[in-house]
Amino acid sequence: MKVDGRHTRTIWLESDGVTVGTIDQRLLPHRYVTVRLETLADAAEAIRSMLVRGAPLIGATAAYGVCLALREDASDAGLEAACETLAKTRPTAINLRWALGEMLAAVRNLPREARLAAAYARANAIADEDVAINQAIGRHGLALIEEIARRKGGGRVEILTHCNAGWLATVDVGTATAPIYTAHDKGLDLHVFVDETRPRNQGASLTAWELTHHGVPCTLVADNAGGHLMQHGQVDLVIVGTDRVTAQGDVCNKIGTYLKALAAHDNGVPFYVALPSPTIDFAVSDGVREIPIEERGEEEVTLMAGKTADGRFETVRIAPDGVRASNYGFDVTPARLVTGLITERGVIAPTRAALAAAFPERSGGA
Ligand code: MRU
Repeated sequence: MKVDGRHTRTIWLESDGVTVGTIDQRLLPHRYVTVRLETLADAAEAIRSMLVRGAPLIGATAAYGVCLALREDASDAGLEAACETLAKTRPTAINLRWALGEMLAAVRNLPREARLAAAYARANAIADEDVAINQAIGRHGLALIEEIARRKGGGRVEILTHCNAGWLATVDVGTATAPIYTAHDKGLDLHVFVDETRPRNQGASLTAWELTHHGVPCTLVADNAGGHLMQHGQVDLVIVGTDRVTAQGDVCNKIGTYLKALAAHDNGVPFYVALPSPTIDFAVSDGVREIPIEERGEEEVTLMAGKTADGRFETVRIAPDGVRASNYGFDVTPARLVTGLITERGVIAPTRAALAAAFPERSGGA
């Protein structure tokens, strides 16, 4: 995506060839600040504190985190400890564990002195692959949007999305946003309803920011508005991202996604999930029972941060003092509520057979 007219990825190697640049997403949309990750601890803390977030970007950051760790200690013990530290940062997005597995496979059997170069090569490749995958998702998803535009006689296509599965959640392009950017760049008339996505408001602060930067018409809506919009024929399709898709096609994504899927189902609105293949976890089947759901701090629910009219940044309390809050980060949408999975290999059914057929090298006959 372009930031201030310059094409920018969300993560990059700095000019020294070893440290890693990224954007502090906690400060968006009010401040665009880049930061440099220099150590394993920096990378782990960036993921834990959600300076970087979004499943594919978490994976890429973890991959570079292994590189930064190997600069300090390239021994077997160092490698294992680094992967353990990074694996503990966030529990739900499977891309994190996938990336660590890729890094281990790339360096584990090499002599110490060859590990660092191999690690950087694999981390750079993971980042490049993410971009290529998302571009392919964009091409496949474009066909869905074009089909709706044809049906509407060229009328504006109305899309609803939840959270941020955009450029900022990936290395570039995004997953849910890939078909949107591709269709918009091709000149299709479309408009996006952006769920604010409480409690951290990734829709309001990140998706609305990047769509607006790219010139995609969008409207921010309160999380609870989706059902009403769908009942009144204002949404042609829903496209969301995901943190983990199971072997049977269940979809784990930001809390509230399940409710949107229920509303879409009840109103006959197609509900698509865009995902890169590293987001598929063939080791789990029943998403509701098997996927660990991150529980985050109460303060994300009871407090709200933002910019005041005179430009100051403030955090205010929106709940009574002392009230308890619960904060599950993700929920699971059962496969039966999903119309299709937009992957780099095409749009496929959310079924065990379709997933295994599309990704035989990953499924191991699952
Ligand atoms: O908690 P976050 O901001 O990391 O959650 C992000 C999401 O839920 C995204 O929809 C998901 O990671 C897919 S990103 C392409």
